[in-house]
Amino acid sequence: MTSRRMLPERDLVEPGPDRPLTVLVDGEPVTGTAGQTIAGVLLGAGRREWRTTTGGAPRGVFCGIGVCFDCLVEVNGLRDVRACLRRAQDGDVVTRQGGPGEAR
Ligand code: FES
Repeated sequence: MTSRRMLPERDLVEPGPDRPLTVLVDGEPVTGTAGQTIAGVLLGAGRREWRTTTGGAPRGVFCGIGVCFDCLVEVNGLRDVRACLRRAQDGDVVTRQGGPGEAR
């Protein structure tokens, strides 16, 4: 029988309050816990939206399972990362993206 992993080995992190992490979100430090996704860290910090559509509508988590792409953020310079799937790493630099007039 073949093992089918959904996450890369580096993302298999034991969650727990003893493993804090800090990510920079638009230049502001936000704390979370090892094992959380970027979306989990943002939601835990009370943020409900972190992207805007080209029409200016706010977006955050909708499906939470990587299907809708509403949660896109830039992480460490890489655009269009699904925040609901990407495990937060200590020191990640997260930037909002989207909005009227922004190049796609
Ligand atoms: S919330 Fe739907 S892809 Fe992330």
